[in-house]
Amino acid sequence: MPRVDFELNMPKSAYSVLIGESLAEFSGPLSSALSGRKALVLTDGGAEAALGALTALLDENGLAYALHLMGKGEGAKSFDSLLSVLDALLEGGFTKSDVIINLGGGVVGDLGGFAAAVYKRGMNYINMPTTLLSMIDSSVGGKTGVDLGGIKNAVGAFHQPSLVLCACANLKTLPERELRSGFGEVLKYFCISASPIMERSLREGGVTPALIEECCRVKRDFVQNDVHDTGARRILNLGHTFAHALEAASGFGILHGEAVCMGLYSEARFAVSLGLSSPAVPDRIAELASAAGLCCTLPKGIAKSACELLIHDKKNSSGNIEMAFISDFGKPFLHGVSVDTAAKFLASEGE
Ligand code: GLY
Repeated sequence: MPRVDFELNMPKSAYSVLIGESLAEFSGPLSSALSGRKALVLTDGGAEAALGALTALLDENGLAYALHLMGKGEGAKSFDSLLSVLDALLEGGFTKSDVIINLGGGVVGDLGGFAAAVYKRGMNYINMPTTLLSMIDSSVGGKTGVDLGGIKNAVGAFHQPSLVLCACANLKTLPERELRSGFGEVLKYFCISASPIMERSLREGGVTPALIEECCRVKRDFVQNDVHDTGARRILNLGHTFAHALEAASGFGILHGEAVCMGLYSEARFAVSLGLSSPAVPDRIAELASAAGLCCTLPKGIAKSACELLIHDKKNSSGNIEMAFISDFGKPFLHGVSVDTAAKFLASEGE
């Protein structure tokens, strides 16, 4: 399988995203990135084979590292976990020029990235995503942070990784539900781009380097021109206004990609109700979600608390919220709505 390399060029940083089959393919770039530096490998114990492959690679190349194990799941994206990583860096004598390697899914990447953003006012980190969701979305773009008071990413920073290494072999040991959840984000990228590769993947279920590359390229086009999420990048929040609220209202029992799928469908129906889109859009979202084994219907009883959480959404400003919508597949746009109108619609979706 050919390795795919591409660059993200941001105003103040540029880095490579390398996509291949196994971690061993990245021996050269990893050795160069770590030359003369010490690495803290952060992981949640959920990617044992990947951890074995990484430590073997580090040992073979004589690279210095320490391991730090954090808790699993969204509940571990907390200040306690952050403090524990920062203590490990301090006690291990890590300096600004050392590196954190985030080996795992979005939770590990977000937490490790945030620790890297604040330790000694900023050190480098490398993302090695092991879930579909983190390969196609959270490992690129530099959004880092922790949750607070039940609000996802309530505290965070923009801090770009210095390198992203995606080894598709890691997906082979991913639990079925987590892999399926990743297709929720593939569906989002399909809504934004109408990419045939993504549609094929949603229908047939395969994950290839070409799929990962295509999603990352769509993301890159929005991130490169709006690193700090003040304009065009907000298109990438499609489905996420409702999704974040649903996920939190479920106590994170619903996985992120599952919530994104529900959010994409309900937000598309919301767009129809506002006269911004046609009913064919949510219908096709539901059809593709079902092909990918995902559900668009909200679980019973969570809509009310999701509405309350929506009010706290970080995008809420003076009672208004800027939401991403699509008028058709590949035709995204931003549109301001009142939070009350959005919350009322979400409540009606739960009836
Ligand atoms: N996940 C959306 C973004 O990075 O902007």
